[in-house]
Amino acid sequence: MKPCFPSVPFFENSQSQVRHWIEQYQNQTIVFEKEHEAALSRLLPLLVCGEQSAQWVFFNEHQRNSQGSHQGSEQAFERIVADEQLHEMALALVQRQLPKPSDLPSLKRRSQHFYLEFGHQITFMDHFAQVACLDALVCRIMLAIERGELGAQHPFTLLCRMIKQDEARHVSASKHYALELGFDHSAWPTMRGRVADKLHQLLESERAAFEVLGVDLDWVFKGQGEP
Ligand SMILES: [Fe+2]
Ligand SMILES: [Fe+2]
Repeated sequence: MKPCFPSVPFFENSQSQVRHWIEQYQNQTIVFEKEHEAALSRLLPLLVCGEQSAQWVFFNEHQRNSQGSHQGSEQAFERIVADEQLHEMALALVQRQLPKPSDLPSLKRRSQHFYLEFGHQITFMDHFAQVACLDALVCRIMLAIERGELGAQHPFTLLCRMIKQDEARHVSASKHYALELGFDHSAWPTMRGRVADKLHQLLESERAAFEVLGVDLDWVFKGQGEP
């Protein structure tokens, strides 16, 4: 399937648990109940697109830093790119086993648009503040899936838990980086609200699919999405 965003060069230095998940499940069929399968097939394109976009955010910053603009964080960025690559691989592995929703092109287009707009014409510090807020919301979605209808021991639940652990680390890395670049502490609530509104707009059409998986979008967005 054509990706939302082209791939970045492969980095190998992820320490994410997701690597082990891929090793364990890459040759297995992951069994879902029919209704969960249909719901997940609508959500995975949005998640996969997010992982591809995240790779570019951190890859670009890695390149910018290695040219001397803000040295010292290259390794951390490389590791994040590598994490996002593993997330994409694992989610794509599940996606390949699921039916394709009939409106897949429009789902992909909408998420592509969301991520392209996301980093458009803003400062680096605001961009990383946004990324911290977005990843914090992704953590909340993963937590809701974990507590949801698939059950605590389902392979996809296990994957979400591992992705959540990585994303929590990305939240603090992005947050610290934004602050280092000059982002003002007092601006977090506004930024959080803005990111939550945009993501809510993207996900609202998939409310029913989230509900089938036991995820209440209102709960996701009611939280602080604390970065
Ligand atoms: Fe990710
Ligand atoms: Fe991330």
